[in-house]
Amino acid sequence: MKKLIIEGGRELSGEIKISGAKNSVVALIPAAILTDGKCVIRNVPNISDVNILLEMMQELGSIVTFENETVTIDNRNVKNCRINEEYASKIRASYYFMGALLGKYHHAEIAYPGGCIIGSRPIDFHLNAFTKMGTKVEEEDGIFKLDVDNLHGIDIFFDFPSVGATINVMIAAVKAKGRTRIMNAACEPEIANVASFLSSMGAKIYGAGTSTIIIDGVDTLTDGYIDVIPDRIEAGTYLIIGALLGNNLTITGIIEEHLHSLLFKLREAGVQLDVKNDSITINRNENLKAVNIKTTVYPGFPTDLGQPMSTFLTQCSGESLFEETIYENRMRHIPHLNNMGADIKSFDKTAIIKGKTKLVGRNVKATDLRAGASMLVAGMIASGTTIIYNIEHLLRGYERIVDKLDKVGAYIQLVDD
Ligand code: EPZ
Repeated sequence: MKKLIIEGGRELSGEIKISGAKNSVVALIPAAILTDGKCVIRNVPNISDVNILLEMMQELGSIVTFENETVTIDNRNVKNCRINEEYASKIRASYYFMGALLGKYHHAEIAYPGGCIIGSRPIDFHLNAFTKMGTKVEEEDGIFKLDVDNLHGIDIFFDFPSVGATINVMIAAVKAKGRTRIMNAACEPEIANVASFLSSMGAKIYGAGTSTIIIDGVDTLTDGYIDVIPDRIEAGTYLIIGALLGNNLTITGIIEEHLHSLLFKLREAGVQLDVKNDSITINRNENLKAVNIKTTVYPGFPTDLGQPMSTFLTQCSGESLFEETIYENRMRHIPHLNNMGADIKSFDKTAIIKGKTKLVGRNVKATDLRAGASMLVAGMIASGTTIIYNIEHLLRGYERIVDKLDKVGAYIQLVDD
């Protein structure tokens, strides 16, 4: 196990370059299975989720390389359709192998996916859609077995615009017979990124990024190419840190449109932002004012930035209301923030955050990926030393975190626990 040691309060200046989006690349890699051609995926972050997925691809028989932020995948020797439960249970995104293996081989065997413990995280939308597409779904000892003779297009209306289910059904529909219409589809930018990749192979997809996506099945696919979009959640996390500690801190390699909900909230709190086309320069502001945050689906305020943002709210004068609406259990960072000196009252999925409070360095724990991000922000601003245990959670979603922050003036070390 590893831990992160941070000496807080350091002013940050210089540039942080944003890496490729975790929540895009974790779908792009399994999606590559659909084609017998070769795939090249550029701007890939070197994070543990990517490396686990590449190992899973190799288990299936893919030949993969990963160097200089570029992944190549050659599936011509893929023989196996079973994903080892040891891997599948490690990450949520393992469910994308269902859509890819079904679409390509009409068969998949995979354990229940893992992922952050932030709620029940069912996959009923995925399985219901695959069943409607003609798939027989059986579960035995936590292993799902999916088989289909004639995978056909469907009309599906999601009860909730699920990111994972939207992408998974889109992947499965690419080689299904006929037309699939996904209604009440998720609109997160990662979905359009995956659609672009599939289209580069010859898939026929219309409307990705809107709430209705149409896919017309094709028989053959060719080589696939894609650049992973910048990680808007990584960028948002560093912008939050910059609003508290920046002295001309520039976050580069971003897509401003993907960050609108955060940028408008930071401005409402009194943060000055200098936005250029692919970078934002941010300076600390000592007189921030309380704002209310309610997480929702894109383009609303993202649930993945709710936890780091709640640390920001402890530095805003007044009373902020923070409401999480996507997951049942995404408040486990609150006790650790209060242990550091915050004044937060939380009940169910709502928190009332009183600021401005002085945070003091403590030993804390990353209970999940974005709770870890909340602890990172807190440790960066707290006086004294903060040690964040269980830091593996954080390393799943943030590439080279120590290098990126050290370079702009932070005192941060990753050491064995
Ligand atoms: C993706 O999770 C992201 N993960 C999450 O990021 C992100 O928080 C989430 O989308 C929302 O934006 C990846 O892309 C790997 P959902 P996903 O399906 O696909 C319910 C991070 O920190 N639901 O949009 O699992 C579900 O319980 C992670 O990077 C069902 O009920 O999210 C949740 O309440 C955390 N049945 C809501 O929908 C289903 O079959 C949103 O889930 C699927 C989902």
